[in-house]
Amino acid sequence: MNFIESIQEKARSNYQTIVLAEGTEERTVSAAAVIHQKKIARLILLGDEAEVQGAAKKQGADIAGITVVNPEKSPSFDAYAKTFYEMRKAKGMTEDGAVKQMKDPLYFGAMLVKQGEAVGMVAGARNATSNVLRAALTIIRTAPGISSVSGAFVIISPKKELGDSGIFVFADCAVTPNPTAEQVADFAYISAQTAKKLAGIDPRVAMLSFSTKGSASHELVDKMVTATKLVKENHPELEVDGELQLDAAVVPSVGLQKAPGSAVAGKANVLIFPDLQSGNIGYKLVQRFGDAEAIGPILQGMAKPVNDLSRGCSVEDIVNMAAITSCQS
Ligand code: ACO
Repeated sequence: MNFIESIQEKARSNYQTIVLAEGTEERTVSAAAVIHQKKIARLILLGDEAEVQGAAKKQGADIAGITVVNPEKSPSFDAYAKTFYEMRKAKGMTEDGAVKQMKDPLYFGAMLVKQGEAVGMVAGARNATSNVLRAALTIIRTAPGISSVSGAFVIISPKKELGDSGIFVFADCAVTPNPTAEQVADFAYISAQTAKKLAGIDPRVAMLSFSTKGSASHELVDKMVTATKLVKENHPELEVDGELQLDAAVVPSVGLQKAPGSAVAGKANVLIFPDLQSGNIGYKLVQRFGDAEAIGPILQGMAKPVNDLSRGCSVEDIVNMAAITSCQS
């Protein structure tokens, strides 16, 4: 069973409720029909009912039996707007502003998740990443003990001699442009959980840099040295090492040469990047030049799971992201 098959199987056995916030979007209704038919999750599609049905009809998607909710007509709308106002008034939110914001399915969907009506949300086929993230960050917030959300990719490389038979987790590739050492340390810990829980691998975490064990000195290197120290202090049970160059992290002979005695060097399967530029470029390099499959971004560190789609996503991507979201819950 490959990664996607096992995630779908796990989601089927969980059978949780997931919100698809962009219910009037054509790939989303097609995906909803597949998710429903394969019993991957119970769904709530958000949007005007006639528009949702119209999109489904146009796509030939059978969404009979799926719950469709128009935020503005929902009996929970006023209570949700009030809750949102209370949550955000210290940040300058007005009552009118909260009502306006709650009409946005991204915010209404995030509130459904916060209130326990669904275990997670998937959106982004139509909305930009930053909009999906802001709705989730302001309503669902981070998990206890986690300061920052990050975006991981499960990478399935054809190079089976690397990582865990070619399987890796990369982070942060999607969220925090310029993280502090403390934030990078959070990314390492939570990525190790993602590796265990979703990818089914025993995490060996490499904190990446352009330096290995002091081979270069620069403040950018210092950040990864500090981040490594923090992870080791806060999570002594984790197999983590840094700072390591990419080759020292994943190629056994280079790891042995550049970081002798390291339990991680040469066999890392969780790669933590120093910032979003390197993480985002890094995953796309392995995907485009190395023919690796890149599954994500999987948002990690949120109190409840929300996942963002690329606007170029396929129906299959949405189905898989709903399954992943269910498995994160
Ligand atoms: N973790 C937790 N909370 C956060 C984070 C984070 N990483 N970032 C922001 N927040 C919080 C803020 O503290 C704030 O909380 P508060 O209002 O209660 O104080 C709240 O979220 C809203 O913050 P804003 O200031 O409105 O948001 P900001 O301008 O910081 O933007 C965002 C946050 C949207 C995540 C931004 O950093 C962003 O756009 N990141 C890049 C996303 C992106 O484009 N990725 C690449 C594409 S994805 C791909 O290629 C796979």
